[in-house]
Amino acid sequence: MSQEALALDKPRSPRRPAARRNNFELYSWLFMRISGILLVFLVLGHLLIMNILDGGVHRINFGFVAGRWASPFWQVWDLLMLWLAEIHGGNGLRTIIDDYARKDTTRFWLKMLLYFSMVVVLFTGTLVIFTFDPNIS
Ligand code: HEM
Repeated sequence: MSQEALALDKPRSPRRPAARRNNFELYSWLFMRISGILLVFLVLGHLLIMNILDGGVHRINFGFVAGRWASPFWQVWDLLMLWLAEIHGGNGLRTIIDDYARKDTTRFWLKMLLYFSMVVVLFTGTLVIFTFDPNIS
């Protein structure tokens, strides 16, 4: 395949929504950097503990998860990872939609779909972390 075929299109939205008068994009830029740094530790730690150390993935079963989530430390770890990754990924995708959606209606509906999926993932993920029952029969 030629190099040209692999190249990603430049942002091709004919016009981006006008800048607003608040600092939302500044804080969003900052959030991407700060959450990115935190995610390096959270995700690499998660990868190491769940997949590499002490038998790795072979020891993961219901009992292992139940034991982990009995500790508030791992509940907070997983909750942070869930919220940061979802908001970081969602906000990144929002930028991509703004950059590439050509029509206002396409942009609007793609963002609605994105926000809806974010709410579903955050809600169900948080619910599972806090309502997990190790004694389920
Ligand atoms: C592991 C540590 C991670 C670091 C250090 C990191 C860092 C960053 C940074 C600095 C940006 C902003 C780039 C820009 O403004 O041009 C970014 C964008 C983005 N990140 Fe992450 N990220 C990490 C993990 C993740 C994860 C887990 C996801 C998915 C859930 C994700 C999805 C995205 C997306 C979709 C964008 C937007 C890309 C774009 O604008 O072209 N990142 N990341």
